[in-house]
Amino acid sequence: MPRQRSACPVPGPKLQCTMGSRRRRESIAKPRLECTSGSCLAVVRMTEFHTVAKVGSIADGQGATFVVNGRLVAVFCERGAYQAIDDLCPHMGASLGAGEVVEGIVTCPWHAWRFRVSDGTWCDNPRLKIDSFEVRVVGDEIQVAVPPRK
Ligand code: FES
Repeated sequence: MPRQRSACPVPGPKLQCTMGSRRRRESIAKPRLECTSGSCLAVVRMTEFHTVAKVGSIADGQGATFVVNGRLVAVFCERGAYQAIDDLCPHMGASLGAGEVVEGIVTCPWHAWRFRVSDGTWCDNPRLKIDSFEVRVVGDEIQVAVPPRK
């Protein structure tokens, strides 16, 4: 994984580097940015995109599950747009990729828990989320960026 050292990209006093601070990591818009020291330097990890499927191979309103970077990732298509979240339902581990998407919400096929596919928010308790991942289309390939587990 390419790494580069750069000046801390996070502006504002709230986002000062505080070694090991969970709060700081959550306040960074892009999870691939992570402070690893108490200085004003941050290590920027460039999360690589992986091709998972061809455009059109996931039916509208449906999902599919792929292994990316050692993780199960559910990729959904709705009205030509693609979104990706963690595939494992936190309730009892069903595959969310087997669920149906309606108006940006996937419903777990086992017990109907619902998650927003854009950011992984659990609809019944928006304070809780599962992981979501960046998706892009390059040519006719759907690509997902999944950082390795820490
Ligand atoms: S396993 Fe998903 S709601 Fe139960």
